[in-house]
Amino acid sequence: MDRKFMMTALGYAIVGMLLGIHMAATHNHIQHVTHAHIMLIGFVISMAYALCHKLWLGNLTSGLAKAQYYLHQVGTIVILISLFLMYGNFASVQTMEPFLAISSIVVLLGMILMKVLFIKHSKSA
Ligand code: HEM
Ligand code: HEM
Repeated sequence: MDRKFMMTALGYAIVGMLLGIHMAATHNHIQHVTHAHIMLIGFVISMAYALCHKLWLGNLTSGLAKAQYYLHQVGTIVILISLFLMYGNFASVQTMEPFLAISSIVVLLGMILMKVLFIKHSKSA
């Protein structure tokens, strides 16, 4: 799972930096919250999970590890698209709020599941 997480992390870094450069070039920083979370939830957290797998978890490929990967990815993509639509004024706050609420909880569940993977791994080690 380390490579999978690293590949998605680097993908988010490229998209987030493109948005950052676009904001800087156009002097329009309206999407700075979207950019910040592409970099932080998409790039930084995915990279932290890649390192967790590489350094501590021995590259687990269990069903739980896969579930943790997809929870983080699904939650992240929904948060980021929702933020982009909301801050770009393509959709109202009221429309996007349920998506943001649910996807935030999904990202949180991914973090809780990473802690569960650590607890299970330290017991079996
Ligand atoms: C090509 C590289 C990058 C460019 C051109 C860029 C550009 C920008 C711009 C124009 C803003 C808006 C500033 C403002 O209006 O306050 C911003 C904000 C931000 N950027 Fe980047 N950025 C880049 C890389 C990164 C990276 C690597 C990270 C983190 C891993 C990052 C994290 C943030 C955060 C957290 C904010 C929000 C700061 C705030 O307003 O509170 N950026 N960036
Ligand atoms: C479930 C995940 C998350 C949720 C629901 C969330 C929510 C929020 C909200 C509501 C804001 C205020 C936006 C505004 O200024 O209007 C914010 C800003 C910010 N968050 Fe998050 N966040 C999450 C994850 C993260 C993570 C993982 C990081 C860092 C690793 C982070 C770093 C920041 C930073 C630096 C700002 C200020 C950026 C700015 O003003 O543009 N967030 N977040």
